Amino acid sequence: MTDPHSPLRIEELRRARAAARIGRSIEYFESVDSTNSVAHRLADAGAAEGTVVIAETQTKGRGRLGRNWVSPAFRNLYASVVLRPLIGAALAPQVGLVVGVAVAETVRQWAPGAGIKWPNDVLIDGRKVAGTLPEMEVVDGHVRYVIAGIGVNLNSPPEDFPPEVRDIAVALRTAVGAPIDRTAFTIRLLSQLQERYDQFLSDGFAAVRPLWQRLSCLAGRQVCIDDGTRQYTGVVVGLADDGALELRDADGRDIRIVAADVTIIGGYGASARPSAPSARAEKEES
Ligand code: BTN
Repeated sequence: MTDPHSPLRIEELRRARAAARIGRSIEYFESVDSTNSVAHRLADAGAAEGTVVIAETQTKGRGRLGRNWVSPAFRNLYASVVLRPLIGAALAPQVGLVVGVAVAETVRQWAPGAGIKWPNDVLIDGRKVAGTLPEMEVVDGHVRYVIAGIGVNLNSPPEDFPPEVRDIAVALRTAVGAPIDRTAFTIRLLSQLQERYDQFLSDGFAAVRPLWQRLSCLAGRQVCIDDGTRQYTGVVVGLADDGALELRDADGRDIRIVAADVTIIGGYGASARPSAPSARAEKEES
């Protein structure tokens, strides 16, 4: 078994993706500020759809809602993919959901109980194993590109996580009790992303939404969402076509959440594994 803390086998990865669109071009770095920032710069300079940026560590890894993404070297996966879907800006959040499905499906190859917590967190037994950060560039109401940032905790021991997230984050290695081959995981992920993204391009979000719903840890759960100005409590009804989370409150009113952090009331029961966002209810995130 290859040492999981050795560098990625980048030539093997490149060979595996040589004939594909996502990953035909892979920019590999030992250290960057943020793979999303590098991917933005490459996309602005004309990088083709499917260009992938991977780094062994990030000095300024970004998470959702302005958080940091801790990125210890040679342990995990930090990647960003340049996507250029021909869609209006209003549909861009769907791309993030499609990426989330691919990440969750890949994690499930190792941990079959993993699920998605809206919008894109991947959780195992209520603890976050992966997150995605879709960032878009829009011109005249149309998407010029989306940078799909993907962070997966693969081999980090618990002490890699800051104390405040140690109880809510987990590495796949800890969850399955065996080291994870990062190269094999990355090859699988890029292939799964290609499949789901192609499905989205050819058949629209309607084709991917049922997959997302099946993977969701929130369906039917009572949640609390705090956008900093208001709190919303309700039962999760589903996912709207535009990617918004739909809740029904105790008075039977429907509420749409477009960007948030969700807390599951009562924690993670048998039917749920994911963690918790709170929401800026009317602010688009991606
Ligand atoms: C989240 O908060 O759940 C999203 C985390 C996204 C982290 C990844 S790591 C690779 C890419 N580069 C970044 O700076 N962030 C994303």
